[in-house]
This record gives sequence, C-alpha cells and structure tokens, in this order.
Amino acid sequence: MFAEGYIGIAGIIGVGKSTLTVELAKALNFEPVLEEVSGNPYLSKFYEDMKGYGTMMQIWLLNHRFRQHREFVARISLGKINGVVQDRTIWEDTIFARMLNQHPEKVISDLDYNTYLDLFDNMVLRELVFPQLLIFLDCSVETAMKRIKMRGREMEKTITLDYLKSLQDNYYQFVEEMETAGVRILRIDWETFKPTKEVVRLVNEYSLKPSSFTKWVRPLRKSPEEKVVKV
Ligand SMILES: Nc1ncnc2c1ncn2[C@@H]1O[C@H](COP(=O)(O)OP(=O)(O)O)[C@@H](O)[C@H]1O
Ligand SMILES: [Mg+2]
Repeated sequence: MFAEGYIGIAGIIGVGKSTLTVELAKALNFEPVLEEVSGNPYLSKFYEDMKGYGTMMQIWLLNHRFRQHREFVARISLGKINGVVQDRTIWEDTIFARMLNQHPEKVISDLDYNTYLDLFDNMVLRELVFPQLLIFLDCSVETAMKRIKMRGREMEKTITLDYLKSLQDNYYQFVEEMETAGVRILRIDWETFKPTKEVVRLVNEYSLKPSSFTKWVRPLRKSPEEKVVKV
C-alpha cells in the first residue's frame, strides 16, 4: 500500500537529507517529519561502543519511526495535512541493521538480527505504507564526510570513510530493492546542492510517471459535488 502525499528522503549520513526535508516541505506546503537526533538516547553511546549498543539503538529507532509513521499516515488520510516530507523513512532502518550484522565484527549478532527482522516484519511489513516517491540523494563519501565535519556533531567524530562506504553500498542495494517493490525512486546527484525549486520540478515530473501502485491511502477530499444542490 502507498500513501499519497508521502515523500521520503533517503541517503547516507551527511548528504543533506534534513536540510532538504525542511526546504522541500515548505515549498510543497507539506509537513516536514524530521529524524530525531538530540532525543535519541542511544546515539552517542552507539558511536562509542557499537557492539554494546547496536541492537538496542536499532530497536529504539524502529519504534520511534513507527510512531511517526502511523501518526502522519493517519493525518494524511484524515485530510488534516496535504502530505509530508520525511527525513529518512522507516524502510531505511533495515539498511543499518543489515550493515551492522554483516560487519566483520558482527556488531549485531545473527540472533539479534533475526529478532529485529521478525519485529520489522510484524510491525512494518504488515502495517505500514510505502512512500509515493522516494528521493535518493547521492554524493561521494568524501563529500559526506566533509559535511559531517562541517556540522560538527561531537558524537559523529568516530565515523570513518569505510563506515560511510559500507553504508553507501547498502543504500544502493536498498534503493534497487525498493524500486523492485514498485516504489518510484527519484535519484538526485547531491555532490553539489541544487536549488529547492529544481527538486520541486523533478518531484512534479516524477509524480506523473506511471507506477505499479495498486492500493492507496488517499486523503479525504471535499468533492465539488457536495456544494452543488442536486435536483
Ligand atoms: N542545500 C544545502 N545548502 C547548504 N548547506 C547544506 C545543504 N544541505 C546540507 N547542507 C549542510 O551539509 C551538512 C549535512 O546536512 P544535513 O541536512 O544535516 O545532512 P543529513 O540529514 O543527510 O545527515 C550540514 O552542515 C548542512 O548545513
Ligand atoms: Mg539529518
């Protein structure tokens, strides 16, 4: 199932998702749904000790995004908002879990990864909807690293180029999987930032592309007939 008016922004750490989320939402008159960073109680612990906190960090994030997701889908379907632009979708959470499980040091053990997938399957695959459009921002890992340094979050100091490279490879795989599942993907080269109005143009262009969506969550609309006095 897909939600009309649900746009996701995907991409590696530092590429520019949060900034574009705010700008694009403003331009489309949608609501921005941002990734919680300061309120995540595991993030700094995770970067200090990935093995110790990897699994619980993923569970926390999954729960956080699950709550966000249900709330905004309900608000879209009730017609309270036109739509949302979401900074990293719940679908992308699996990328991190998979990457940490495939890490040579098994940051997330096979047992924990299986439990996570079972939880994801139970919560997400059965209950949640796909975005109408997923925008994938891509830049080189060196550029992402420069942007991470520029924003200067203390806890991100331990991020390495290898970590970003592995994340990027997993993102490429993920984007193809989403495409196979029927989600419209808009890939944008974000090596240099583009003006928001250029992104708006691409969004409009892509929304006209045929898709294999079969079932939609559509916002309630006041039909014009309601105002017409029928005889
Ligand atoms: N369009 C843009 N114009 C100027 N600076 C940007 C733009 N997008 C991102 N940045 C800068 O790049 C850094 C990373 O961007 P951010 O949106 O926080 O990335 P992400 O959410 O993908 O981790 C920040 O310092 C941000 O201010
Ligand atoms: Mg961000």
